[in-house]
Amino acid sequence: KPVVLSGCQPSGQLTLGNYMGALKQWVSMQADYDCLYMIVDLHAITVRQDPKQLFEACLDGLALYLACGIDPQKSTIFMQSHVPEHAQLSWVLNCYAQMGELNRMTQFKDKSAKNENNINVGLYSYPVLQAADILAYQADKVPVGEDQKQHLELTRDIATRVNNLYGDVFKLPDPYIPDFGARIMSLQEPEKKMSKSDTNPNNFLGLLEEPKKLTKKIKRAVTDSDEQANIYFDPKEKPGVSNLLTLLSLSTGKSIKELEPEYTDKMYGHLKGDVAEAVVSLITPIQEEYAKIRADRAFLNEVMQSGANKASERASVTLKKVYDAVGFIPKP
Ligand code: TYM
Repeated sequence: KPVVLSGCQPSGQLTLGNYMGALKQWVSMQADYDCLYMIVDLHAITVRQDPKQLFEACLDGLALYLACGIDPQKSTIFMQSHVPEHAQLSWVLNCYAQMGELNRMTQFKDKSAKNENNINVGLYSYPVLQAADILAYQADKVPVGEDQKQHLELTRDIATRVNNLYGDVFKLPDPYIPDFGARIMSLQEPEKKMSKSDTNPNNFLGLLEEPKKLTKKIKRAVTDSDEQANIYFDPKEKPGVSNLLTLLSLSTGKSIKELEPEYTDKMYGHLKGDVAEAVVSLITPIQEEYAKIRADRAFLNEVMQSGANKASERASVTLKKVYDAVGFIPKP
């Protein structure tokens, strides 16, 4: 089976954007692929995290993966920091990544603008660690949202550079970005993406938030102030309404084409009410499952342990290949 790898940062609570853009695909890909899914705690510390909060967010993330339907019988689920090969491979790849190409990463540019007092080296080489995550397993496909496209291109460039020097070391991974839902927008500022680290909590819908709160946020979402308050899909002219239609479509399984005519004579308030209802019914069963799993620390430990062991065994094969390729002496 082709190999799939992906991860989310435990830098806050996972959002509906993470679910639509990534997790939903992760779940369905388990049927046809050999999947590895991780919590990228090493990536999270590229911005300051409160240690206690980070600790809890890692467990929350793991329990959420499981609650969404990632199955430890089918997939390898682990904490990135439990598999030392990621950091080891990352060092080697740092020596094959160019400053020029890292300077062009838009996520680095955005994040360093927001964290002016802490533009650390880890933040800069963040995409190299991500390349190591992917290449360590010789992944074929990487299911991510639109915002990760550039990091995937960089991963391919680094892999190609290493292969050109030393032969066939790495398989080139393809991004797997859904046609629809790959970029869920912020509720209050629909021209930017929904993000779990947003300073305004009204901008995102957290997967663990109370239904009442989710409903309130959706009802307060910015709509569009054009002359006729018509409801149709046009992300350029009507970003707020189009984002709500997207959420409704992805939560109900109805296409935009099916939904539009249902709202020809309706008001924005009506649409928001329907979106809130659909989102709450999508999230409620996940939250119920989550509560059970999160309370079972022994089970979470078991999942982490067996995941880390399986992942490490696989990643060490690639690491050895890379160490041999660059000329390191195998430990006698
Ligand atoms: P992170 O934690 O920012 O996001 C996790 C996944 O969710 C997707 N996503 C979205 N999709 C649609 N709409 C949105 N508003 C939205 N916000 C986030 C992201 O595209 C991502 O797929 N660098 C990665 C983590 C990572 C990784 C990896 C991913 C580290 N190593 C290796 C894949 C493979 C990140 O910051 O994800």
